[in-house]
Amino acid sequence: MSSAAVSPTGGNPALTEKIALVTGAYGDIGQHTVLGLARAGATVIAAGRDPAKLEQLAQNAAAQVPGAEIETLVVDLADLSSIQQAAQTALATERPVDVLVNNAAVMPGGQRQATRDGFELAFGTNHLGHYALTGHLLPALLTSPEARVISICAGPSNQRLDTSDLNSEQRYRGGMRTYMASKLANAVFAQELARRVNGTTLKSLTVFPGTAATGVQRNNPFIGWLARYLFAPVGPVFGPGGPRQGTAADIRPQVEANLQSLGLDRLDVVYLRIGMMTVPHGESLAERFQALAALRGEGLIRHLGISNVDTGHLAEARAIAPVAAVQNNFHLGNRDETAVLEACTKVGIAFIPFFPLGGGRAGIDHPSLAEIAARHQATTPQIALAWLLALSPVALAIPGTGSVAHLQENLAARSIALTPDDLAELA
Ligand SMILES: NC(=O)c1ccc[n+]([C@@H]2O[C@H](COP(=O)([O-])OP(=O)(O)OC[C@H]3O[C@@H](n4cnc5c(N)ncnc54)[C@H](OP(=O)(O)O)[C@@H]3O)[C@@H](O)[C@H]2O)c1
Repeated sequence: MSSAAVSPTGGNPALTEKIALVTGAYGDIGQHTVLGLARAGATVIAAGRDPAKLEQLAQNAAAQVPGAEIETLVVDLADLSSIQQAAQTALATERPVDVLVNNAAVMPGGQRQATRDGFELAFGTNHLGHYALTGHLLPALLTSPEARVISICAGPSNQRLDTSDLNSEQRYRGGMRTYMASKLANAVFAQELARRVNGTTLKSLTVFPGTAATGVQRNNPFIGWLARYLFAPVGPVFGPGGPRQGTAADIRPQVEANLQSLGLDRLDVVYLRIGMMTVPHGESLAERFQALAALRGEGLIRHLGISNVDTGHLAEARAIAPVAAVQNNFHLGNRDETAVLEACTKVGIAFIPFFPLGGGRAGIDHPSLAEIAARHQATTPQIALAWLLALSPVALAIPGTGSVAHLQENLAARSIALTPDDLAELA
């Protein structure tokens, strides 16, 4: 284990003099975790498999956080002997480990790959690697007066763990599914660890960091492209000081990066997404929308959109430049933005509800839905989509799906004509 920089900072009393070990330390989320813990006053053991990247991270952290105490630890989580060796190095210092952040992860590509010990790469690295590391470090965790093991998990999904084929030997279901199953295994592990250490000073917690275009999508060209397209544009920005809301100054570089990565001279539609998923959130969009409108003026963007907005935002944006489309969280079970839909309908602006099925096919609960679906010999998601389309000629539902059968079912919703009685029941 090697050490860089040095002297104590003020920090957070809960973390000063604590020792925190972070895996995947130079990854996108990992490096901000390291910086955050260092700022709070913890001694951080930055763990990863590339010694040069670890040293670079330690130097950057020392430059950004005066007095940061950063140590580095080389560990390849796809190699059980490397994990054992790294744990021995950490245990040899005879210090407690107060915080273990199991953060590293890999999302494999299209072909099944294996760890050094022959386990499927995502399951072997993300789950088994952290399982082994946590197990080896238990003596140091249990000597801390109040230790935490934090497993970085993914958001809710309909993924299942196929316990008859955990190693994907009979069937490899692609990089994304395998990755999501391994993240589910992280959550199951965290829960079981919590149960087993109940009554000790150790707590096992999970964290979902939200969604961002980061290195984890790098091996999967389609997911990587989708992530850059969906998650990176003109929204939260990962900068040296941590994730932050994008500003007007971020807009040009982000649009130029999108043009370059997509190989285009002009983007057809760019949305300015503000706030979190719900409105009102009290933010003005004027400065950022002006920056976007200037790029439209230069011909880099054809149409402008806005997202997560209320009617005040819509008026604010339209006073600056034409708005072609609005995207808001809206569905049968969430009609908070009805006034925005009405405003869009009045002036002919496309209204694109995201989460049109409530964030999943089982996401909408309405007392009349099942009965109306039966009357039309349709499914409940089809009725929820037909309801959206019937609301306004400017409503454009884009339900995502990974299944061809669901895609066909969703498309068929266009042909369902809800009656005035149906609409009254759903009102
Ligand atoms: N980004 C998102 O939208 C999102 C959403 C939900 C959860 N998460 C979770 O957030 C965590 C951090 O991911 P991220 O988004 O920051 O991605 P990232 O930038 O790719 O970071 C992942 C880190 O894991 C390391 N890693 C991969 N294989 C390893 C191995 N065999 N041994 C040691 N380290 C290894 C990588 O190091 P190398 O460069 O050496 O491979 C990298 O530093 C992960 O647990 C991920 O599942 C991310």
